[in-house]
Amino acid sequence: MKIFSITLIAASLMSGTAFAQQAAPTGNAENGKKHFLSDGCWQCHGRSGNGAALSGPRLAQTELPFEAFVMQLRQPANEMPPYEAAVVSEQTAADIYAYVKSLPGSPNAKDIPLIMNMGVK
Ligand code: HEC
Repeated sequence: MKIFSITLIAASLMSGTAFAQQAAPTGNAENGKKHFLSDGCWQCHGRSGNGAALSGPRLAQTELPFEAFVMQLRQPANEMPPYEAAVVSEQTAADIYAYVKSLPGSPNAKDIPLIMNMGVK
């Protein structure tokens, strides 16, 4: 899934001048959560934002810059359906971005008692 990020970052760097002048709106993670659920992101990226091999990559704690995040929404790299500004505005995208950044991501195996009880080091 890293390849998606690399492609998006490269794409955002190439058109960097257009983005550089535009400050990312401040996101509201609480509102972002509502949209993550109501706009269907969770259906492919998982309710916890951890993604799944066949449906969509992890978004929790994304390292994508905001510009690349929005670019993926408007012009998806591959299988993801596009979300135009009329559907997910710049502000809503910033809210969703703030939300997925705030998600904890996958727990370490050491923190999952069931796995530890099975003898995994
Ligand atoms: C129908 C499934 C589907 C839905 C719904 C969906 N995505 Fe995706 N998403 C994908 C897939 C598959 C990819 C991998 C790249 C591609 O196919 O365009 C992806 C990639 C991404 C990426 C790039 C992640 C990375 O690290 O490269 C972001 C950001 C993203 N999606 C955000 C969203 C947001 C926000 C929503 C909701 C507004 C959403 N997606 C809805 C399937 C989906």
